[in-house]
Amino acid sequence: MKKKTVAILLTAMMAMSAMAIPASAEEGTKKIGIAMPTQSLERWNRDGAYLDEQFKAAGYDTELVYSDNQIDRQVNDIQNMIADDVDLLVIAAIDGEALNTVLEEAAEKEIPVISYDRLIKSDAVAYYVSFDNYTVGTLQGQYVVDTLDLDNAGDATYNIEFTAGDPADNNAGYFFNGAYDVLSPYIESGVLNVVSGQTDFDSVATPSWDTQTALERMQNILASYYADGTQLDVALCSNDSTALGVSQAIESDYAGDNTVLITGQDGDEANLANIVDGKQSMTVYKAVANEAVVTLDLAEAMLNGETVDGSLIEASAWDFDCAYDTESYETSEGNKCPSFLLVPTVVTTENLQEALVDPGYYTMDDDGYLHPAE
Ligand code: GAL
Repeated sequence: MKKKTVAILLTAMMAMSAMAIPASAEEGTKKIGIAMPTQSLERWNRDGAYLDEQFKAAGYDTELVYSDNQIDRQVNDIQNMIADDVDLLVIAAIDGEALNTVLEEAAEKEIPVISYDRLIKSDAVAYYVSFDNYTVGTLQGQYVVDTLDLDNAGDATYNIEFTAGDPADNNAGYFFNGAYDVLSPYIESGVLNVVSGQTDFDSVATPSWDTQTALERMQNILASYYADGTQLDVALCSNDSTALGVSQAIESDYAGDNTVLITGQDGDEANLANIVDGKQSMTVYKAVANEAVVTLDLAEAMLNGETVDGSLIEASAWDFDCAYDTESYETSEGNKCPSFLLVPTVVTTENLQEALVDPGYYTMDDDGYLHPAE
């Protein structure tokens, strides 16, 4: 090929690549509004960081806001993003029922919305990206069945108490129902006994997933039902922030000499330390780094005007499993929300290295404790 032709080709390629990645906001770089619920629950700091990094690395401007678990503040934060003319919104709701009006404002400006991790009950939501939340609960329930070998319990009875999540969080019901659906046959047969009698979601829920609230409720249960030496065998907790409070209550207010089986979710640093120390039995880990990858690829397809369906998964280079689900979630009665659901993982002392350290999510120090990778 003649040198002049090569030079022309290279110039053309450089011009095209410049067009593919906008140079600056002035030249039309698209902007993504990222609304996270709070920094007081550990995982959301990772979600926000991963999302921000992924979108920026892909050439987008971002606006990342945390709303301190205050519902009205999150509404206002989203209104500000709309006023800033973001091109797409990624929202992890504090209260999935509280964003209808503000998302109607987004729809009026044709700003598409991805409901991130927690389903928002608004038909303005285009897609939902999360983990299979019901499976998070079934994994916790099945861990109890397998660890105590309930199918071969004979005449044995095990005492269990439940701690669920925030009633405003659409996920919390799925977590609780998943676990309860696995365990209810054993409660009905008498193999499991809920000594407090608290088995309905509203009785066992924890507003804001608050550690102190979970701690004080478990202290009350222990004082009311276990002070006479009754043994507590299982504390089924829907996530790590509540499990932390429950394990603190058991440590301070439970006189029994057995180790209580405690479940959790998220792989919070303090809870991983409790797992290493034998104070918590397991957590369900959700690789939020992968949740951010799915969210980026989905957002790009949406902004490019592509038809989005399960083919996004086939066309992706993802090295993790994800399901395209058009049946499980509704933003309003009968209005199915197409969802991309990643797969959660049970983590115990047996697989800390393989599940959390080897993939680079955490580092392990010389004492065997895990710390989020920087
Ligand atoms: C849920 C989330 C869980 C749990 C909880 C507390 O919606 O899916 O991972 O961490 O919030 O933030």
